[in-house]
Amino acid sequence: MKALVAYGGRSLEREVSARSGQQAAKALRQLGHAVELIDVGADFVDVVQRAEPDFVFIALHGVGGEDGTVQDLLEILQVPYTGSDALASALCLDKHTFKSVCELRGVPTPPWHSFTKQAFADYGAGKTLDALWQQFDGRAVVKPARQGSSFGLSVVQERAQLGGAVLGAMSYDDRVLLERYVPGRELAVTVLGRSDAPEPLPVVEIVMASEEYYSFQAHYEIGQSEVRLAGLPDAVDAHVRAIAAEAYSAAGCRDFARVDIRLEGDEPWVLEINTIPGLTETGPTPLAAEHAGLTFAQLIERISARVVG
Ligand code: DAL
Ligand code: MG
Repeated sequence: MKALVAYGGRSLEREVSARSGQQAAKALRQLGHAVELIDVGADFVDVVQRAEPDFVFIALHGVGGEDGTVQDLLEILQVPYTGSDALASALCLDKHTFKSVCELRGVPTPPWHSFTKQAFADYGAGKTLDALWQQFDGRAVVKPARQGSSFGLSVVQERAQLGGAVLGAMSYDDRVLLERYVPGRELAVTVLGRSDAPEPLPVVEIVMASEEYYSFQAHYEIGQSEVRLAGLPDAVDAHVRAIAAEAYSAAGCRDFARVDIRLEGDEPWVLEINTIPGLTETGPTPLAAEHAGLTFAQLIERISARVVG
């Protein structure tokens, strides 16, 4: 079949996406498809119409690709594409909305507050932050609602750092979240399949070399983090996988996604879902697949199975 691999786009994660796209393209060629790689830009619709692909493998991360926009265009063009539909994509990219859905569905997610830039300005920055800080036990994570790879994210340990962290996050998005910092282990569960029949892969742990969260450097620089099988006790492992599957279903994901979790003692807290997780060599998703007995090409085959038919 003829596959277009869509990568790049305008998000801050475009370089990561180029790596994911190249990996996916290589695997699709191994699977026997004719592959064209396209850097998504303003000519996207023209390019797709000219190429007449049988399907598009979306390897975009972040705003303008992982958020439902490209998915909607492909719906209009009636071209099948891999991954979640526009609604689930948009839902998962917006952490405030995603966490609200988790709360409604009983999926544990750390307590949070979110506010827009305008509301923050109207109410008075110092006053708002004083009131919020009181609720966070001396440590909070500040993050933009819609960003990936930890751009704009900081862990704040003192009230004095909070204003700078919020302004930093606001430079990435109009909506900012303050979330309880969950001490514990950083886990990632890749889930495959339909939202009503999710298949969680083995639980992977990200062990940071120095940082207390999965920073941009820890995501992509060799030696900054180690990704390995979590090796949890059976009951905890089953619980973590069930929670990941529940989150995937609640958000209505399909084909694949990576659910990021913090494990506090034996308690999993869902932080977010990446509907198009990084497919780079250092990422947790290829490793999870490997431990499930799938080569990288077989993982890409599984992700594309619905659209290849
Ligand atoms: N947002 C990046 C690509 C990831 O979570 O893998
Ligand atoms: Mg993410």
